[in-house]
Amino acid sequence: MKKEKRCIISPSILSADFTCLGDQISETEQAGAEWLHVDVMDGHFVPNITMGPVVVKACKKASSQLIDVHLMVTEPGHLIEDFVSAGADLLTLSIEAVEDIEAGIQQIKELGCKVGVALKPGTSADMLMPLLPWLDLVLIMSVEPGFSGQSFMPEVLEKTRMIRSELDRVNPDALIQMDGGIGAETIMQARDAGVEVFVAGNAIFKHPDGIGAGIEALREKLDNF
Ligand code: DX5
Ligand code: ZN
Repeated sequence: MKKEKRCIISPSILSADFTCLGDQISETEQAGAEWLHVDVMDGHFVPNITMGPVVVKACKKASSQLIDVHLMVTEPGHLIEDFVSAGADLLTLSIEAVEDIEAGIQQIKELGCKVGVALKPGTSADMLMPLLPWLDLVLIMSVEPGFSGQSFMPEVLEKTRMIRSELDRVNPDALIQMDGGIGAETIMQARDAGVEVFVAGNAIFKHPDGIGAGIEALREKLDNF
């Protein structure tokens, strides 16, 4: 029988108000979000530039959530130690951005950090399959990486089901995370495909009734699954 897994909400601070980031993070924690998602973009792998270890360090200080760092960075090997020292609990590499992905995974594990691998919407699962036994998490992008506030791409759900069923065979404790366009209208499609960790930016930080209401709206859908 398939083990029941918890549903984890990981608010993406890319959509937060950076003039009061600490308060915004506390609101997500008080509303029950277990993780905090930090989007690191290098202006090369993706067309946008965001934040680095300094912000990770501030997040770690502001909260006791698991710090979930999503690296959208070409060849980030020289930065890994800095992110771990800053307080990253999970580092996720983009499979398309790292030539020797096995070495990257190994490097992160050796530092005692959890490791994930992310796939862009158009990337097939083939390259990922041999890596599954070594991973704590697979991140399936449901928008093109680079920006918050884009529309969910349901075409990634089929790939998600396939990866979940292979993980159940070779590494059942590993989690599947989905990132991009997750909101009250889309979260159940992701859940139904086997996702356990839900990243949301705009649906939480831009909710008209505030951060707590944004998280509650997602949690309510998951509770009724
Ligand atoms: C996109 C980022 C996402 C983004 C999610 O490249 O990886 O984490 O912030 O934002 P929403 O939930 O608004 O799509
Ligand atoms: Zn992300």
